[in-house]
Amino acid sequence: MRVLTGIQPTNILHLGNYFGALKPAVELQREDELFIGIVDLHAITVPQEPAQLKKNIAFATAAYLAAGIDPKKAILFQQSRVPAHAELGWLLQTIARIGELERMTQFKDKSKVKGQNVSVGLFTYPVLMAADILLYDTQAVPVGEDQKQHLELARDLAERFNRDFGQTFVVPKPIINIASGRILALDNPEIKMSKSAPSPKNYISLMDEADVIRKKIKSAVTDSETGISVDDGRPGLKNLLSIFSLVTNGSPEDIAASYAAKGMKELKEDLAEALITHLAPLQAAINDYLSQPDELEKIVAEGSARANEIASMKISEVKVKMGLSL
Ligand code: AMP
Ligand code: TRP
Repeated sequence: MRVLTGIQPTNILHLGNYFGALKPAVELQREDELFIGIVDLHAITVPQEPAQLKKNIAFATAAYLAAGIDPKKAILFQQSRVPAHAELGWLLQTIARIGELERMTQFKDKSKVKGQNVSVGLFTYPVLMAADILLYDTQAVPVGEDQKQHLELARDLAERFNRDFGQTFVVPKPIINIASGRILALDNPEIKMSKSAPSPKNYISLMDEADVIRKKIKSAVTDSETGISVDDGRPGLKNLLSIFSLVTNGSPEDIAASYAAKGMKELKEDLAEALITHLAPLQAAINDYLSQPDELEKIVAEGSARANEIASMKISEVKVKMGLSL
């Protein structure tokens, strides 16, 4: 099956991204024909500092590779190096309707805060995302809850284009990512761990140093009940147990049982150490890639060239169908 996923190179990547996006991608590359887009054209729909954006693009690429993406198996590409994304994005804007974009809840939420002062790109962003997907005859897209509506738009646009101009696009299906959003914020277990959080205590960044990890886990919000149990009524503790389980492969229930007598303090101390141990090789591998910019450039250039080959055939087909050729 052909599967495509995209990650925005913004800010830092955190544990939620690692367990909800990077590791699942490593699984997918085994069986599926996987495309991973570092979607920098999406990132610039909100203001980015150029030097920082450049670093973030390198970092996201290094993180995928360090997590185990094999550039011989998966196609790892930088969106802005494949011109067909912006081009198809424009062509699809001519068949998308203002009304359907106005219904996008993510845009409504983001623009609520800033009113009229948001970019036009933020408004039309779901059309660009549809282009990302449709260019590659993508059959399935792993999505979290927050992206479901965008995928629905991609399906609608594909169907509309096929109806108006003849069969051209595969209509993609969602793979509902159950892990997505499953890692909760350490400082507020009512919300998911997020890189746009105002406080760094919300998340563990993939690059956090040992002492920072210890402090963040120590101050993670739990509850005042006694005992250690997996309980929906104790979301902070449950979240720590799931993270513990992800880094040690034990079940949350077994871990809870083994700390029943020891208590919260020891659980947090041991979790911090387990996390530090788990992240150390990943951090080393990320730093290793970042210290070899030429190697990173080669991988991205090759992945983008492979993506470009496929995408440029599709964009030519689209242009012919729309009458944009002689
Ligand atoms: P974002 O950081 O919101 O751009 O998310 C990028 C991807 O990381 C999402 O599509 C999810 O698959 C994953 N992700 C983000 N936050 C979490 C989280 N708190 N728990 C699990 N997965 C997450
Ligand atoms: N919109 C996605 C996000 O914010 C990123 C994205 C862009 C994407 N294009 C995509 C995801 C194509 C999947 C497929 O997380």
